Amino acid sequence: MTDDQPDTAPTCPLEANAVPIHGSGPNVDRHALWEQLRSRFGQVAPVRLSSDLAVWLVLGYEENLEVMRDWSTYSRDTRLWKDIREGRRQLNGELRPTMSYRASALYADGAEHARLIAPINDALARLSETRIHDDIVETSDLLIDAFCAAGRADLIGDYAALLPALLMNRFFGLADTYGYALSHLSKTMWNPDPALASDAATQMGNYFLGLVQRKKAEPGADLTSWMIEHETGMTDSELVDQLILLSGAGHEPTTNLLGNVLWTLLVDSEVAREYSSGGVLLEEIINHVVWTEPPVQALAGRFPTRDVTLAHTRIGAGEPLVMGFAAAHADPRLAGASDSHAAGSSLPAGHNSAHLIWGAGEHRCPARSLAMQIVSVGVNRLLDRIHNLQLGVPPAELRWREEIFMRALAELPVTFTPVAAPERSRFPVALTPSTAASDDTADEPSDLLSRVLRWWRARASS
Ligand code: HEM
Repeated sequence: MTDDQPDTAPTCPLEANAVPIHGSGPNVDRHALWEQLRSRFGQVAPVRLSSDLAVWLVLGYEENLEVMRDWSTYSRDTRLWKDIREGRRQLNGELRPTMSYRASALYADGAEHARLIAPINDALARLSETRIHDDIVETSDLLIDAFCAAGRADLIGDYAALLPALLMNRFFGLADTYGYALSHLSKTMWNPDPALASDAATQMGNYFLGLVQRKKAEPGADLTSWMIEHETGMTDSELVDQLILLSGAGHEPTTNLLGNVLWTLLVDSEVAREYSSGGVLLEEIINHVVWTEPPVQALAGRFPTRDVTLAHTRIGAGEPLVMGFAAAHADPRLAGASDSHAAGSSLPAGHNSAHLIWGAGEHRCPARSLAMQIVSVGVNRLLDRIHNLQLGVPPAELRWREEIFMRALAELPVTFTPVAAPERSRFPVALTPSTAASDDTADEPSDLLSRVLRWWRARASS
């Protein structure tokens, strides 16, 4: 732009050049899309996520790392977004969660980030390995019990979508019945209908406020109580925002990674054969999926604190950047990323660069090992108990979710040899939303949490 040009929207390079990538459909070839953008624009491309939302998509591996590591230049604070500062948008629940704002660690930089992330890190560190492992096995078993006799299931709706939500709910210190409401709320917060998403965000706030009040009265050995008693001394409202962050960040990506690993084992017969013969470890398969089909293809956002040049692209202060993990993993400058194979294996051997799926810099995921355990124990438990697992539809008929920044199945229908659910003294009733809806109302305390549960029960039964 020259000095004598007016600074209006049509001359803004981001607005003027943004390539629409919304509405491409679930079956769009994402690999081809990232490469087309890279060959046209280089390592940073202007793209349109909806008719009124243009962002810079970072495609290069090194550039993604640079953006995530340099928080003083690339802030996570959505309030610095140019559109917000200039009054063209509101930071409300109608924006996708990662572009919205809460007073949580995710949207803070520097010292404020350190203050807010400390209770999360310290609470997560207090979950013992044994407890994590036992809770994953028990929760997986509970879910498998509910469908194992039927000989068919949807491994997304019946398993992958519920496992992380029920587990997080346990770690928060609540009974499993509440986990179904939590799962429903987390999912609805991502609903493209802004009214539904906004309603779910409000209910989520109520859910966690009820939880904080309950745990203040009756502390336990759980994440909520440990965060309440942390030396940082957060207010109730700050506690609610950190709990919403933990719940939101922990659910969707873990579901999608678990789903994509199960899908790979079902559709890639070579990978499945190598896994069952012991030729390749499950961790290697997860690593392969993360490199080639990352469940989070791209993640918003960062906001430059000043005008910057990134990979020869001029980016104005406050113009939104989105990290392109999938594009970065396919960056041609990462020699050998996709063409070298371990001896005798169909899986790429990998290379010296780490994948970006956990992020980098101060906001890197604090729960990497927990997430990996949920996925690996969740897969192992399912394969130990369910035999002759087959896809229930031809691979081409599988429904993928529309969101371009996610690689996520809507459903994963399977068939298998039916097996009776064992008698379990701890789980006499196989919990499903319908049985949960009539569960334990007798001793329900009349707090906010219960009101949210009743709201969810009404939705589940409608
Ligand atoms: C496969 C599963 C997961 C993936 C791929 C994933 C990925 C990520 C990524 C990329 C970030 C960085 C966000 C950014 O830079 O803006 C992040 C942050 C975060 N994740 Fe995870 N995550 C996963 C599971 C979990 C789980 C299970 C939890 C909770 C128990 C969790 C809690 C968080 C939190 C609290 C943050 C914010 C950290 C901060 O802002 O400092 N994540 N995660």
